[in-house]
Amino acid sequence: MTDLLIIGAGPGGYKAAVHAANLGLHVTIFEEEHVGGTCLNVGCIPTKTYVHAASFAEAVERQQQVVEQLRGGVETLLSHPNITLVRERASFVDAHTVCTPSGQTFTADNIIIATGSSAKLLPIPGTDSSQVVTSTELLQLRELPRRLCIIGAGVIGMEFASVFQRFGSEVTVIEYLKECLPMLDSDIAKRLRKQLEKRGATFYMGAGVKEIRQLKNEEIGDVESSNPSVSVLFEQKGKERAVEADVILMATGRKPNISPDFANAGISFDERRGISVNDDFEVPVSDGSSVGTPPRSRIFAIGDVNGRQMLAHAAEMQGIHVVNHILGREDGIRFDIMPAAIFTNPEAACVGPSEEQLKEADTPYECHKAFYRANGKALAMNESEGMVKLCTAPDEGRILSAHVYGAHAADLVQEVTAYITLGATLRQLRDTVHIHPTLSEVLIEVN
Ligand code: NAI
Repeated sequence: MTDLLIIGAGPGGYKAAVHAANLGLHVTIFEEEHVGGTCLNVGCIPTKTYVHAASFAEAVERQQQVVEQLRGGVETLLSHPNITLVRERASFVDAHTVCTPSGQTFTADNIIIATGSSAKLLPIPGTDSSQVVTSTELLQLRELPRRLCIIGAGVIGMEFASVFQRFGSEVTVIEYLKECLPMLDSDIAKRLRKQLEKRGATFYMGAGVKEIRQLKNEEIGDVESSNPSVSVLFEQKGKERAVEADVILMATGRKPNISPDFANAGISFDERRGISVNDDFEVPVSDGSSVGTPPRSRIFAIGDVNGRQMLAHAAEMQGIHVVNHILGREDGIRFDIMPAAIFTNPEAACVGPSEEQLKEADTPYECHKAFYRANGKALAMNESEGMVKLCTAPDEGRILSAHVYGAHAADLVQEVTAYITLGATLRQLRDTVHIHPTLSEVLIEVN
């Protein structure tokens, strides 16, 4: 007997499966590709291998090994006696039943959809060119692109710009908005972009890409290039411009993985925004049950497919919450306090609203800053580029947000996330003894 069906074994799905199994539920989890999802196989983990590798060749070699090791770890977790892993695609037959291509059918009182997302390609001419890649294909290249053009200066665009520029590619980034990474404090986003510019990357901001054009031999100005060249045409301040490249990374967002069979279960969804859910990530039931209607499961959607917060750790916590909710267990997970990091070099990270967002919302706040250049550990590490911005509520000093730029920014933001979750004030942060010498001392230096 199965209590819970989970479709998709990415971070959301597999964490939910293990949590449920540990709490005594019988779980069947379906995965048509490798376990671990985008994050482990083609996202966070291989990207971080690139960030930490000394060269492109080392990155290519190490990523497979790291991914396989972690995948093995997830397989072991899923070998729990309460979990059945079905290595097939699951499709909804109705609101209570899913089936697989081999003809098996499954029912359970609860079903979690955790199907993730995939790269969104711009609907412009030339997108189908063989030189246009998503982050997944870029990680599969065996040769370092000499000229890499990145469309979109969001999280993926900035992480790949940083890493490929360091490996030696000539990197150009074209971004529609005025500044990169809109969720980050704009001071910090600008510093990060300027730092990448200083290292040789070129940015065209406020620039909308219109077309990707394959160049004919006679149009190619660059005789050194062994690859067929493509030209990215874009408009900036009313002017038509073009950039030639060997490889183009499309980093213009991701779309939820919606399958047409979701409709068989009466699930309403939006192709762009995903499956809409309530605060317990449950899919609202559209039909009123009456006598004679077939049984229906409680259906939940977690992770990228609900389009709320496209982050692996958000998916994991949503999965854990859904299992707790199914079992009637209270938890205190604060989905409104969601830290995030951008693994560029230097790193950037944030939790809570940026200063601009506080201003826009008319929320009273005080802003406190400190810089890495005055921190002993940062100087010793030769990582003096960086800053911390903390925003607090004016009267009691409760910490509202932290936006950090510099080495190990994610770790500093993680510390502040704990303070915010516990409702702590800046005074309480300052009263907490910090180990010397550490980068986290920057936090107590804010003024
Ligand atoms: P994104 O939404 O972060 O950024 C896409 C960028 O493309 C935007 O800045 C947008 O203005 C720009 N853009 C769109 N159309 C354009 C056009 N025609 N011309 C020029 N620029 C254009 O999406 P991204 O970077 O693809 O990431 C997808 C998702 O994956 C995000 O939700 C992100 O949070 C998540 N992710 C998170 C990571 C992390 O937490 N470290 C790492 C990688 C991805």
